[in-house]
Amino acid sequence: MDEHLNKTQRVIGSGLLGTVLLFGVGGIVVYGLEAEQAYQPDALYVEECGACHYAYPPGLLPAASWAGIMRGLEDHFEDNAETDDETAAYVSKYLAENALQMGRPSKWSMLLRNMPTEPPLRITDLPGFIQAHESELELLEGVDLSVGFFSPCEDCHRQADQGLFDKELLSKGYGPTSR
Ligand code: HEC
Ligand code: HEC
Repeated sequence: MDEHLNKTQRVIGSGLLGTVLLFGVGGIVVYGLEAEQAYQPDALYVEECGACHYAYPPGLLPAASWAGIMRGLEDHFEDNAETDDETAAYVSKYLAENALQMGRPSKWSMLLRNMPTEPPLRITDLPGFIQAHESELELLEGVDLSVGFFSPCEDCHRQADQGLFDKELLSKGYGPTSR
């Protein structure tokens, strides 16, 4: 009897374990997919490149643009963003490894549209960026848009810190859907 109970317990036990494993592994797989798409900024990167403005996700620019930015930090859009060699090397590697790239699955592949062979340094100068903001530009027709008008992404995209630029997540008052 005791032995029988033990067997039953063992069966139930392994069933439970199986369930946990199944859901557990499923959870990890789902989590893995989510993690690949979300922006999980690197702490040192944010400290270095988030001091003056929003720390742009590396996936918003091709590696060539990041390399150009990192080469010219002492004259960074008329500002000085120089840092020590060790930090610069770390940041360069982080940017290169996570850059916008053909064939790399990304929420931001629309930014690759009509990418010139020599990509611009600014995200806001990418043809794909301009295309994604066409309806906004139409709305602002006649307004004198200074250089850098679109640079503070977080002004309009309220979840930019999480790398979420979906139309549904615009700040109130911005964009065609919320006006
Ligand atoms: C000392 C302040 C400062 C620091 C530090 C700084 N930036 Fe900037 N960054 C600026 C300014 C100013 C602009 C131009 C903003 C504008 O036109 O409104 C800019 C613009 C940019 C843009 C272009 C945004 C667009 O319009 O598409 C990128 C990309 C960028 N910075 C990346 C970086 C990276 C990477 C680092 C870290 C290595 C960094 N920045 C550190 C001041 C800084
Ligand atoms: C002045 C407000 C404003 C600023 C600043 C702005 N955006 Fe946008 N963005 C919009 C609007 C509005 C749309 C939706 C346009 C449409 O529906 O056609 C949009 C669309 C997008 C999309 C496409 C989203 C989708 O679901 O198709 C991306 C990606 C994006 N923005 C990224 C950025 C990034 C990166 C920055 C900063 C470099 C930025 N935006 C700055 C207003 C802004």
